[in-house]
Amino acid sequence: MLSPLDPIALQRLLDQVAADAPSHFGEGKVADYIPALAEVPPDGFGIAICDVQGNVYSAGDGGKAFSIQSISKVINLVIAMQRLEEDDIWTRVGREPSGQAFNSIVQLEVEKGVPRNPFINAGAVLITDILVSRIMSIHWVLREQARRLAGNPDINFDARVARSEMDHKARNASLAYLMKAYGNLQGNVDEVLDLYFHGCALAMSCVDVARAFAFLANRGVSPLDGSVVLAPHKNRQLNALLLTCGLYDAAGDFAWRVGLPGKSGVGGGIVAIVPGQMSICVWSPRLDTYGNSVAGLRALETLVNGLGVAPLG
Ligand code: DON
Repeated sequence: MLSPLDPIALQRLLDQVAADAPSHFGEGKVADYIPALAEVPPDGFGIAICDVQGNVYSAGDGGKAFSIQSISKVINLVIAMQRLEEDDIWTRVGREPSGQAFNSIVQLEVEKGVPRNPFINAGAVLITDILVSRIMSIHWVLREQARRLAGNPDINFDARVARSEMDHKARNASLAYLMKAYGNLQGNVDEVLDLYFHGCALAMSCVDVARAFAFLANRGVSPLDGSVVLAPHKNRQLNALLLTCGLYDAAGDFAWRVGLPGKSGVGGGIVAIVPGQMSICVWSPRLDTYGNSVAGLRALETLVNGLGVAPLG
């Protein structure tokens, strides 16, 4: 087994994974239901690791910013878990895998406007509704959270992506209105969607994302500045949700292949957590039918095998 803390071997492995990535560039396609994302050149690849000492390793386009999309749902949930009571959150959204596409409306009607979990679109929109109603200057708070977690004051919203999502909001708006019809979503739908889309439009690199999520590998403490992001029991809960729900209806297959808590986004990013050791972020824009990066998934499989990390045994 390769020690993940051996810097030279770790860098060599990342370089190897990045060199192998182009062999998957023909597979999958870039998200085109958000026009601003369809413009992203499809054949890029980046990877970064942040270990629990805060050391960062990267390869390929690991420093290039991409649209984090659904990875932002974790940042929103962290803000909610930091600032609100458990009942404020978990009476309005569930904690079970949905087994449905990330933007499906089917289950939401059957289950009377209560989303299965905070990572499907309906659940994430509901979390943003809670944030909008409870937290002043929440756009600012969200951006500051991303900046502080990543230790990068230059992180920003990509206004074009946010606009493009708002211009093509029909499906998310329908989820929001259905939840409003059931009395679960309480705010103004466009205001709620505006925050949700701005989170999705955060532009961050693999290095940023790996640094920002390293606390999840470190019992809730940021290895960058020693600050407590989440209490240990909440950190464990969030990792459990990421393992069971982070990749939507592909969560079971991801657990099977990679065996780590993770979260994907249709910008092509995937973040994965090795508890006690490191966070990993991969990015490559071509997606499979579940909305998950094809080359990113392959890279994670290769990496966990190469590192010999297996928290599930
Ligand atoms: O709302 C949407 O559909 C996108 N802004 C985010 C979806 C997403 O990233 C799903 N992840 N794989």
